[in-house]
Amino acid sequence: MDVRQVTCAREMRSGARGEIRLGDSTRMDLSQYWDRVSCVYLDPPYLTGDQFILRQRIGFEGWSGEKRTVDLPAYSDRWPDRDAYLTMLRGMVGQAVKLLTDEGALFVHVDTRVDAHVRLMLDEMLGERNFVNQLVWSYQSGGRAKNHYSRKHDIIFFYRKSPALRFDITRVPLPRGENRQNHMKRTFDENGRPCRTIRSGGKTYVYYDDDPVYPGDVWNDLSHLQQKDPQRTGYDTQKPLTLLNRVLLPVSEPDSLVADLCAGSGTTGLAAAQAGRRFLMADQSKTAVMVMRRRLLHAKVRFDLEAATSEEPAKADIRVYPGLGFDDVCLAGFEPPTPWPEGVTGMDGVEQWSVGQLRDGVLHVMADAFRSRTTPELQDVLQVPMNTPDLAALIVDILGNRYCFSLNGGGEGA
Ligand SMILES: C[S@@+](CC[C@H](N)C(=O)[O-])C[C@H]1O[C@@H](n2cnc3c(N)ncnc32)[C@H](O)[C@@H]1O
Repeated sequence: MDVRQVTCAREMRSGARGEIRLGDSTRMDLSQYWDRVSCVYLDPPYLTGDQFILRQRIGFEGWSGEKRTVDLPAYSDRWPDRDAYLTMLRGMVGQAVKLLTDEGALFVHVDTRVDAHVRLMLDEMLGERNFVNQLVWSYQSGGRAKNHYSRKHDIIFFYRKSPALRFDITRVPLPRGENRQNHMKRTFDENGRPCRTIRSGGKTYVYYDDDPVYPGDVWNDLSHLQQKDPQRTGYDTQKPLTLLNRVLLPVSEPDSLVADLCAGSGTTGLAAAQAGRRFLMADQSKTAVMVMRRRLLHAKVRFDLEAATSEEPAKADIRVYPGLGFDDVCLAGFEPPTPWPEGVTGMDGVEQWSVGQLRDGVLHVMADAFRSRTTPELQDVLQVPMNTPDLAALIVDILGNRYCFSLNGGGEGA
């Protein structure tokens, strides 16, 4: 069997709902999306001075429990100074503004380290009159300070691209809490509909129990992900899906495009897809791209992905066995050129793999395998239609490195 390492710049799936791109989103050519995006959410680094990690589960033991994990670099939030940080953010916001339609909305998520500087930058770039809200996401998680009040909130700046903003808050109704009604008189209106009344300034205000209520600009009802939350990917700074739903639902329609240029573990893309929106997600960390790829595959969300494969020589033992009407492609072994962390060998270092047809550097994916908590064992056989021409396999390892192999000739040599 002729297994030859080749290059592949892109993977595509029929019926894709969005795209993932690996790279620096301040420099990426996104012109194909200009003026097409309803909502851009940016959750950039916050100038913390930290190096963030991915706690990666390894092999069957790692995925079936949590007994085997390694900490891998995810992204660095270290900057020479604040100006360097703000230059990066300015590049990102500049891209976001080009992406948005006139009706679109921009959300920039930061914390108290940089909020003042970012607010001024956004006022300058989008215009003060386009400021809509300073949203406060307040939470309880994390330690408690003794020498000052604990810092327990993030800031999300909400700007519109123009006065044509489309915003529908009725898409994010809240359950009516008991607390806010306690001081009101409980009664029924003339039609027997339960309501609460309160007199203030000589007027009587009536609130119906079955009327929806909508969020204000302080969000203290959305908790951070707990340690055991099944959403958790191990990617530091991952945000909860509930937060992204509240951000994107009022400002996007079914099938409209939602973009995240610092996508991390892929929360925005997943929230968008689950709400019937399309998505564009970019991140410069290959670890992030590996995590979001797995996350979308697990959720059965179809996507395209642009990221070059490694040209460093790797060894793959891949065999194709004819079946009845299909061929079995079997991944029997893999050795990377870049060593994995100590103790990780063999198939434990393989995170995901896919097979499909490789044409002009694009892998048209036919089948995918990945590990998850429900399927901790990596499926080592994938099926493709019999005698598929230009058959190729793509391997993604735990470091987020990608390797492509042509299985029956074809493709450019690596
Ligand atoms: C706070 S995390 C985002 C977390 C994400 N919201 C989630 O739910 O997982 C910031 C991300 O920005 C990415 N990033 C930083 N600078 C970037 C750049 N210039 N281009 C693309 N991504 C960048 C980092 O790699 C990191 O994944």
